[in-house]
Amino acid sequence: MEISTTPSTVTVDDARLAEILDNPGFGQHFTDHMFTVEWTPDAGWHDARIEPYGPLTLDPATAVLHYAQETFEGMKAYRHDDGSIWSFRPEENAARMVRSSHRLALPVLPVEDFVQAVDALVAIDQRWVPQGEGEKSLYLRPFMFASEAFLGVRPAQHVTFMVIASPAGAYFKGGVKPISLWLTEEYTRAGRGGMGAAKTGGNYASSLVAQQEATRHGCDQVVFLDGQEGRYVEELGGMNMYFVHADGRIVTPQTGTILEGITRASIIELAGKLGHQVEERKISIDEWRDGVTSGDITEIFACGTAAVITPVGELKWDGGSVPTPEGGGNLWRQIRQQLVDVQFGRTEDTFGWMHQIV
Ligand SMILES: Cc1ncc(COP(=O)(O)O)c(C=O)c1O
Repeated sequence: MEISTTPSTVTVDDARLAEILDNPGFGQHFTDHMFTVEWTPDAGWHDARIEPYGPLTLDPATAVLHYAQETFEGMKAYRHDDGSIWSFRPEENAARMVRSSHRLALPVLPVEDFVQAVDALVAIDQRWVPQGEGEKSLYLRPFMFASEAFLGVRPAQHVTFMVIASPAGAYFKGGVKPISLWLTEEYTRAGRGGMGAAKTGGNYASSLVAQQEATRHGCDQVVFLDGQEGRYVEELGGMNMYFVHADGRIVTPQTGTILEGITRASIIELAGKLGHQVEERKISIDEWRDGVTSGDITEIFACGTAAVITPVGELKWDGGSVPTPEGGGNLWRQIRQQLVDVQFGRTEDTFGWMHQIV
């Protein structure tokens, strides 16, 4: 892919950048540039460019605003101690976007073009990648949307793919605390034949009211059950789940209607290497309750790009609860440390997961 570059003439100055990187928060500050490439049926992907970061001008009839035909990704760039900058399994994000785009009737952006676009943006805005201490990173948001101005319900004939970037601070501030979960019995996020496995805005829009319910009940996050029987654990609003058993087995909900998390997939490989048997299967809410009550489930954790891994505490629903597992295990901590060490280049990358950008 040929990428043209128009450098920004109004970049954030060094003093302000240092202030932002000191306490970046999440998704609040954006780098000096953005990447864009357009697609039409006749020309394919064309006009790839890096330009100064700034607002888009959209026709009010732009299809994505009406029918939500869009997909996105979430990934990070990590600075290693020698100053080099790396991403974690970027081709997996690219491949997931291909799968999501297929479900949303969007065109396929080739994996190598996706990786090239992300690399080009990180390279030009490399001063925005924080030093690695405190697990700071540069969060990357590739996204694709129906940019044709047309109100008919059909796949758009003009599509735009963009990448923007935003520095991200540590997920755990002031120490690790298990997250509390609200089990929503009213809302589901996916159904058979639906788009639960796709990373598309509509799934997140539909999760918001359930998250509000969780907050109202004093819980940190919401957990969704399957849409068909309302019995099987699917995932959280933005993380996959793992259950650790007393005999060392670890169990995670099977794919199909959940997002195929790249952290989830990496944990399967890492845990296997650590000697744990990993089962991908259905897990009922009864199995969760009985396992914690009997002591057979010793740890529960959630995983995703943002937090890497976070322990799960109490589960609550209307009229009931399951307490925090009391197994006292710390497999979550061990796996988390190994993943973070690979991402920040502090241990050997035996899986070949890291991709050097700068
Ligand atoms: C619904 C949902 N499930 C799971 C995940 C975890 O996926 P990953 O490990 O690729 O970040 C995410 C994170 O983006 C998510 O939004």
